[in-house]
Amino acid sequence: MCLWADSSLPGMEANLPKRKETRKLLRIKVISMGNAEVGKSCIIKRYCEKRFVPKYLATIGIDYGVTKVQIRDREIKVNIFDMAGHPFFYEVRNEFYKDTQGVVLVYDVGQKESFDALDGWMAEMKQELGPHGNMENIVFVVCANKIDCTKHRCVDESEGRLWAESRGFLYFETSAQTGEGINEMFQTFYSAIVDLCDNGGKRPTSSMSVGFTKEQADTIRRIRNSKDSWDMLGVKPGATRDEVNKAYRKLAVLLHPDKCVAPGSEDAFKAVVNARTALLKNIK
Ligand code: GTP
Ligand code: MG
Repeated sequence: MCLWADSSLPGMEANLPKRKETRKLLRIKVISMGNAEVGKSCIIKRYCEKRFVPKYLATIGIDYGVTKVQIRDREIKVNIFDMAGHPFFYEVRNEFYKDTQGVVLVYDVGQKESFDALDGWMAEMKQELGPHGNMENIVFVVCANKIDCTKHRCVDESEGRLWAESRGFLYFETSAQTGEGINEMFQTFYSAIVDLCDNGGKRPTSSMSVGFTKEQADTIRRIRNSKDSWDMLGVKPGATRDEVNKAYRKLAVLLHPDKCVAPGSEDAFKAVVNARTALLKNIK
């Protein structure tokens, strides 16, 4: 199926007279991934056709399209495989994971399940690539989509950004409806893929350094999901003042905004300060 305006079949240009080019035309393959109805097809349509269709038309298996883009001094031919998110289509999409240079991983900011499902999508791709597949050398961009629906938003920016950046992935807030973030996202995404190709197909090490530790990221997540102040500080209910202060100091050193650049560290630090104050009020 060809979706987009300047679609053409792969290989069709093989018989055309070759233009003199200073740099070889780069061909890349990208795929879209994420739960059904999160807006994968609309994001691609917004970028390629500059329009938005409000009616939901589920992708059946896979949609395929080709588009040419200019990134810096390079012309790139992008083969886009837009996958169906519905579990029913697993058997159709599973063979399209291989030989991919870039993945657009999408969730809906108003639907927590679609965010929680991101790990499952990564696992599906890993499984299909098999033991010799290498996910390290693929550029991933996470799209937190439908940011125009502000009333229903339930996954905030720092939570999405933390998930993405702790894995060395790009992160963008997007709306296929208004177009916000879409061009910027694709430009940065394609540019990172060009860097990857220019680096012999390996992700440049500079793009992998995340600037914060796994311990910091895990702690921020744990604090966000904690059920009360005891749980937040990681002490047993009934702990002494000393135990509370000790736990607090450890977290404060780990998360202090002057030292920790992980998304959400400021809120986590504030929550820890408040939890300690609340607990100390009630401990003699
Ligand atoms: P599958 O093909 O089933 O995997 O779904 P998909 O992820 O491709 O979703 P699709 O792009 O078809 O969009 C699903 C629904 O969400 C449609 O009704 C779209 O109009 C709507 N939608 C997509 N993006 C946005 C957005 O940014 N904002 C709003 N408000 N609606 C959106
Ligand atoms: Mg679709």
